[in-house]
Amino acid sequence: MMSLDQIEPLADDALIQVVYASTLSLKGRFDSKIFDDIAHHAYRYNQQQGITGILCYGNGEFLQCIEGKKAQILALLQRISQDPRHKQLTILLAQPISHQRFKDWRMRMLFLERWLWSDATKAQAQNLAPFLPFAPQGWSSARTQQFLAVIQAFDHPPHIKAAGITYNALGNMVRYVTAPHQAFLLVQGILLLLVILALGSLLWW
Ligand SMILES: Cc1cc2nc3c(=O)[nH]c(=O)nc-3n(C[C@H](O)[C@H](O)[C@H](O)COP(=O)(O)O)c2cc1C
Repeated sequence: MMSLDQIEPLADDALIQVVYASTLSLKGRFDSKIFDDIAHHAYRYNQQQGITGILCYGNGEFLQCIEGKKAQILALLQRISQDPRHKQLTILLAQPISHQRFKDWRMRMLFLERWLWSDATKAQAQNLAPFLPFAPQGWSSARTQQFLAVIQAFDHPPHIKAAGITYNALGNMVRYVTAPHQAFLLVQGILLLLVILALGSLLWW
């Protein structure tokens, strides 16, 4: 596991990049506005502090890359690490950089759940396949670097806008999974009804 030792000797205004993985907590899971809330804070705070990066979520785990001046990055990391909506924050990468590789301070989100993607997204995101199912908690720094190189290459990262994990993911699942099988579910429903009626009339007699 990496630590922040590598950036310890650097000056406060040195440009650094920190990547961490964390796990969604129970509190986070029941927070239907978690993504909107993080985006809202990042929108104001990160821009003010000159911090850029990207936030990825999938499979109950986060991976966030934040870049900026050391003092500001460590302060943000401190805030984020106290957030009860996630746990087990693990530093995957901490290094000095020559320039900020992600231009977006809005902390654009990348959802690494294949079943949430459209066909167009799937086609664009072929090279993300080796990183799925998304489990960054166990990644080495080399693997983390490979992943960053892949997502950096997207002009428009494959993502969908979701208001929350639990409700939206469930809603999406119902839509995507049941929609193609509507006729089947209808027939099953009718059969179930007939079975109940048959059992009911047996008991009645
Ligand atoms: C996975 C994750 C990533 C986050 N990323 C950021 C971020 O980039 N910028 C930010 O200002 N807050 C971020 N937050 C939110 C902060 O943890 C915190 O809620 C927010 O800064 C408000 O802090 P305050 O309540 O002390 O004002 C993130 C939270 C989580 C769970």
